[in-house]
Amino acid sequence: MIHTLFFLLYLLCSHVSLKVDGIQEDLELERQFDLINKPSMKSIHTKVGDIIDCIDIYKQPSFDHPLLKGHKLQRKPSFHNVIGESSHKNLRTKSIFGLSKDECPTGTVPILRTTKDDLIREKSMLNNHMLVQDVPGVHLAEVSLKPHFGPYYGVNGINSLYNPRLDAKFQISMSHLWVQNGLIESTNKISLGWHVIPELYGDYASHFYSSWTSDNYKKTGCYNIRCAGFVQTSKEIYLGLRITNVSVYGGPIYASPFSISQDPKTKNWWLSIENKFIGYFPIKLFSNMSSADEVGWGGRTRTRLGTHSPQMGSGHLPNDNIATHACYFRQVTIQDSSRRTRGAKAYETYSFSDNPNCYDVKYYADAVHYFGLALFFGGPGGNCGN
Ligand SMILES: *[C@@H]1O[C@H](CO)[C@@H](O)[C@H](O)[C@H]1NC(C)=O
Ligand SMILES: *[C@@H]1O[C@H](CO)[C@@H](O)[C@H](O)[C@H]1NC(C)=O
Repeated sequence: MIHTLFFLLYLLCSHVSLKVDGIQEDLELERQFDLINKPSMKSIHTKVGDIIDCIDIYKQPSFDHPLLKGHKLQRKPSFHNVIGESSHKNLRTKSIFGLSKDECPTGTVPILRTTKDDLIREKSMLNNHMLVQDVPGVHLAEVSLKPHFGPYYGVNGINSLYNPRLDAKFQISMSHLWVQNGLIESTNKISLGWHVIPELYGDYASHFYSSWTSDNYKKTGCYNIRCAGFVQTSKEIYLGLRITNVSVYGGPIYASPFSISQDPKTKNWWLSIENKFIGYFPIKLFSNMSSADEVGWGGRTRTRLGTHSPQMGSGHLPNDNIATHACYFRQVTIQDSSRRTRGAKAYETYSFSDNPNCYDVKYYADAVHYFGLALFFGGPGGNCGN
């Protein structure tokens, strides 16, 4: 009898404590939600289906970061963008992506709205971050420049845009360029490009994104503005933007210039998409990012252990005849130790794909007209091992 009573009591207590945990979690979610979603001057449902809030540029979520107390907003970088495309005669003067200049009121910037469902979905995803090399289920095909020829201050390239097919909502496929610095366990890293992540956006579309960390994704970092960090300055292009104009095999190829560069004066790391500066990661966020000891370009995918991997890039492997059916980065350049923007020699680069039957990468260091220095990468995925 007494035993039964104790047992019942025990059941009751454990139930109560479970409930308290649940409430704590709800409160935490609520707190996070309020932090991300600031009062907006105007909301916009865009043509591509995004919901955008126009937020006072001085009240954007990143200014809540404890390391950014008293941070002075940098409205414009102190340097010019140097991507080859600007001299190209087919230059699109008007971007086909993003908002037009006057859609958000003066003094505000567009921020992609984050819903509570978004926050719940992405919880499972941030553990085991895929930008860390040795996570099971992650595969890559990338070209990088290592510390030996560094330090580096920037990386550029024009990346073709695709919408690789995923077979399940827990999968990820992405294309990016990056800068990183420091020892493995405390890597500082900024990645910029496009990706398909159903668990982040609740859809299978491709989105422009960036991510950052100052400790190899242990305690810091996230995608886009899901945590405080990135400071938005552009009124047109925002992180998380859904990309509807994607390349199709045998059809038109859409591509966009991307760059990550350090401002030589403020040391903040600026991002540009479509030759437009969209904002920056303040240098104060990082533990060790006064320069980069590695930069690179390429693709990554993630799936669950024991399942087939999704497509990367166009879903096609790069072939020897620069057949343009694989995803590419063309006119790729780096900013070297003297902050000069130049192409990387073949001997400076390191090409790596962990399973060339699934995904491969090829770097062409002899400038081919139009492509310039270029890498082709991607593949069909499939049974790629862990
Ligand atoms: C910072 O990064 C440099 C490489 O650029 C590395 O040699 C150094 O050990 C790092 N410092 C810390 C404290 O991690
Ligand atoms: C981009 O996509 C939209 C909608 O799919 C289409 O209306 C538009 O013509 C495309 N733009 C270009 C430049 O192809």
